[in-house]
Amino acid sequence: TWTPDNIIDDQVELIRRQVGDKQVLCALSGGVDSAVAAALVHKAIGDQLTCVFVDHGLLRAGEAAQVEKDYVASTGVRLIVVDAEEQFLGFLKDVTDPEQKRKIIGREFIRTFEAEARKLDAERHIEFLVQGTLYPDVVESGGGTGTANIKSHHNVGGLPDDLQFALIEPLRTLFKDEVRAIGKELGLPDEIVQRHPFPGPGLAIRIIGAVDRERLDVLRAADLIAREELAASGLDREVWQFPVVLLADVRSVGVQGDGRTYGHPVVLRPVSSEDAMTADWSRLPYDLIAKISNRITNEVREINRVVLDVTSKPPGTIEWE
Ligand code: XMP
Repeated sequence: TWTPDNIIDDQVELIRRQVGDKQVLCALSGGVDSAVAAALVHKAIGDQLTCVFVDHGLLRAGEAAQVEKDYVASTGVRLIVVDAEEQFLGFLKDVTDPEQKRKIIGREFIRTFEAEARKLDAERHIEFLVQGTLYPDVVESGGGTGTANIKSHHNVGGLPDDLQFALIEPLRTLFKDEVRAIGKELGLPDEIVQRHPFPGPGLAIRIIGAVDRERLDVLRAADLIAREELAASGLDREVWQFPVVLLADVRSVGVQGDGRTYGHPVVLRPVSSEDAMTADWSRLPYDLIAKISNRITNEVREINRVVLDVTSKPPGTIEWE
């Protein structure tokens, strides 16, 4: 029977056997999957694992700090942090096409990660790479089922030939709720384990229009309010994901304070889902939606309108890009 305990024991055994006394590398993304995968591998082989966190500057408020501090404190993992914000924003400048954004972020991520991997490899010869691939990722990217790749998913594929590692994918047969149960069992903090899924390309695909630092800050402020209020309502776990999307090239007229404004809208996109392959819009209480809307328009000067996305998946995807 399936229990988090059994899975952990089985995986620890498998990983030890696979790895032996070799060195292993893992890219942490800030999300649940890579965090749990790395924690599992760390439990199996301790300091033979080194984690790399590429901070691309596209994460939500507080997330990078959580990886650097709380995650390391709770696991004891050896972590290298690469601050790559300027580099990513430089390459994203003026780019509006969703697939283009994904390609750039994927490419830069690999480049940055590759440079770190090379340094480490020179130091301690790395043989394995951990990936937090889940069962739905395997299915949606066409692995094994022949389904079309709907959006180019971002992970650490595409490393050059002279830097190929054998993969360790301890979560490959699991769904998200199972991964969370395992993370909890491994002692990871709730803020990481219960964190909603978050796309690799980050807030770049939640800004409809070009991405820059100012727009990211505006979206971060609105997103933080939505997350705070959802958590305060106790409905956090009823919701699969709650993207907040900034329509950066749209403006509408409003009145805020004493005067007329010409600001941007944000879209609230709370969805309920089992595995992200299909989803429905969450019927959050109107009072909660109202509270979020009031706070965002009061506290984030650039935003003067909040709208609710009431589209299921299909036909809409969860993310807007
Ligand atoms: P969509 O928008 O296709 O998203 O309904 C399905 C799930 O996948 C997440 N997502 C991504 N995750 N890299 C990721 O790691 C990506 O490029 C990516 N694009 C979408 C999305 O947040 C949702 O959970």
